[in-house]
Amino acid sequence: MKNIRHFLKETDFSKEEVDHIFSLADTLKKNRANPQIRSLNNQSWGLLFFKNSTRTRISFDVGVNELGGHGIYLDQKSLQISRGESVADTAKVVSRYLHGLVIRAFEHSLVEEFAAEGSIPVINALTDFLHPCQIYTDAFTLAENWKSGEVPCLEDLKGKKLVFMGDCDSNMANSWILGGCLFGMEVVMCGPKEFQPGEEIKKLVESSNLDGSYTFTTDVKSACCEADVIYTDVWVSMGDESEAAKRKELLSPYQVNLNAFKMAKGDALFMHCLPAHEGEEVSADVLALPNSIIFDQAENRLHVQKAIMAKLVE
Ligand code: CP
Repeated sequence: MKNIRHFLKETDFSKEEVDHIFSLADTLKKNRANPQIRSLNNQSWGLLFFKNSTRTRISFDVGVNELGGHGIYLDQKSLQISRGESVADTAKVVSRYLHGLVIRAFEHSLVEEFAAEGSIPVINALTDFLHPCQIYTDAFTLAENWKSGEVPCLEDLKGKKLVFMGDCDSNMANSWILGGCLFGMEVVMCGPKEFQPGEEIKKLVESSNLDGSYTFTTDVKSACCEADVIYTDVWVSMGDESEAAKRKELLSPYQVNLNAFKMAKGDALFMHCLPAHEGEEVSADVLALPNSIIFDQAENRLHVQKAIMAKLVE
């Protein structure tokens, strides 16, 4: 019986496999509906969302279709799971119909349970702990900008300094810590001490034996000095709405504005996974800089996720 593979966290693929995904994404970007690459031909993939989404939902739906498959959007509110049917039973049942499942959820344990109980590939499309599809896409986007050869690859990222500003105890921060260390980057997390990286991600990195490193600082100047890329995300994530006022007060010194950006290298890039809250975590002038690559990131979600799906069904 074929071994079922899942993509739940950044380290679920080896570095060699990540390079293969980047190469495939590059090919797919040059020819979106490549007739040679119909990896999901006649397959049906479920897109199960417990949270709102624009980029992830649309790019997966389009991506499944461009690979020859059929995407079915599953709003959790209309499934029996919202009326108490167990995750285990739901996973077993949908595995009888579908060939793969993309899930956006609150608890990370829910996507792990779907993967463990079902018998089809599961992709983590964001949980409160990690957002691996975003990080693979962002790494690919950086490699495109810094590539030394024909095809973007992880070697292009080696030793580059990425500064993550803001809530360093969030899913995007966790994913940059884990992904950046896998990719061999120097990751600097910069935010208030109240939002420093948590124990769970520290333990996961320690147990993963990775090449890169990460540090945490509260000091914006030392963090941004000589940075190759500055990254930020919203201060109030989905599920954190009740803490909005406290978060905005503690995180306001960590806004990515021109003052912060000028401390980085002259050719530094600005990244944001979007949606952005202009005037909160990032100023309007930084969002509009020529070195802001936010819409390339958004576009590349499509190409990289197609490559991830193709890799899972190889
Ligand atoms: N960046 C991201 O995951 O966007 P959506 O929430 O719109 O999917």
